[in-house]
Amino acid sequence: SKGSYEHYMLKEIHEQPSALARTWEGLASISVPRSKEVDFAKLDKLQIVACGTSFYAGLVAKYWFERVAGLIVEVDLASEFRYREPPMSKKGGCLFISQSGETADTLAALRFAKSKKQYCLSVVNVPNSSIARESDYVLRTLCGPEIGVASTKAFTSQLAVLFHLVKKAAQQRKCGQDLIKSLGRSPEHDVVSSMHQVLMKENRIKEVLPLFKDATSAIFLGRGQCYPIALEGALKLKEISYIHAEGYAAGELKHGPIALIDEGMPVVVVAPYDRLFEKVVSNLQEVRARGAKVLLISDKLGCEMCKSYADYIIELPTVNEILAPFINSVAVQLLSYFTAVERGTDVDQPRNLAKSVTVE
Ligand code: F6R
Repeated sequence: SKGSYEHYMLKEIHEQPSALARTWEGLASISVPRSKEVDFAKLDKLQIVACGTSFYAGLVAKYWFERVAGLIVEVDLASEFRYREPPMSKKGGCLFISQSGETADTLAALRFAKSKKQYCLSVVNVPNSSIARESDYVLRTLCGPEIGVASTKAFTSQLAVLFHLVKKAAQQRKCGQDLIKSLGRSPEHDVVSSMHQVLMKENRIKEVLPLFKDATSAIFLGRGQCYPIALEGALKLKEISYIHAEGYAAGELKHGPIALIDEGMPVVVVAPYDRLFEKVVSNLQEVRARGAKVLLISDKLGCEMCKSYADYIIELPTVNEILAPFINSVAVQLLSYFTAVERGTDVDQPRNLAKSVTVE
């Protein structure tokens, strides 16, 4: 049941800290049979395949695997991958990400990869789903059933599993040890506690809603590992509030999208204070100079630096930059949730969408 929550989506957004904690505990307690375990040291490439929000989780993982574990990663949409039938590396592995485990395109992609003798690892939420059954090995997100059509806790739980895999890959490949050390003793604990803090910012997030009041369109910008979060923020907004929204890598602005900017266009900038921050700020100034109304989602330092450049600011807790996607996700989920509620749309059952896409 929804308990005291107005919608399943809000309930599931709030379940994220416990869903992640459970997922990590589950991962720590399994002992993988040697024959089944992926050895990232033996791979020369990892191919990630998924659809929708699960695809965005894969995109975050690409930044993580490449930077932390020095592993080449390609991420593809299942619907493209399956028909392109790309050549596969002899020393490659494939990773499929799916909440339902039944997505038709992802399942077909898995079958193609298996026919090419690839090692196939899956991250699923539904045990005994087709994708789980047909994979060489399965890692589960333990976020419980997700009822709301828009994925929330499944997404961050997928990130939790992927983060676990990245740490394992770094260890096996003897790579990125400094980065891992910089995460501190328990990055998992840091994520869970800062997610709680983001959830306490609901009232602050409601205050930025005037930004979307009369909007017919919105743009989300991010760089690096927050670029997928910009894509996810835009997808969430369009799915449940029906506002047309696009996510862009901030550096792409000049190559076309900036033509869309005019007075009143809301632009959401997802930019924690990291090594790319200055770059994003100059993008922020470019859109603002053209009349856009800007919402900056950042941490303490980022918000301080940008106070005078942004129309609205949501300050999130400061975390290690690698962990930023976890908490920025929660902020963009809440933003689209409250926008949709204000617009009076059917948040849990958006029009034209099904929870599990078992047909093409
Ligand atoms: C968006 C959403 C979809 C799914 C996509 C893949 O909120 O829920 O984009 O992420 O249909 O579904 P799974 O993960 O079940 O393969």
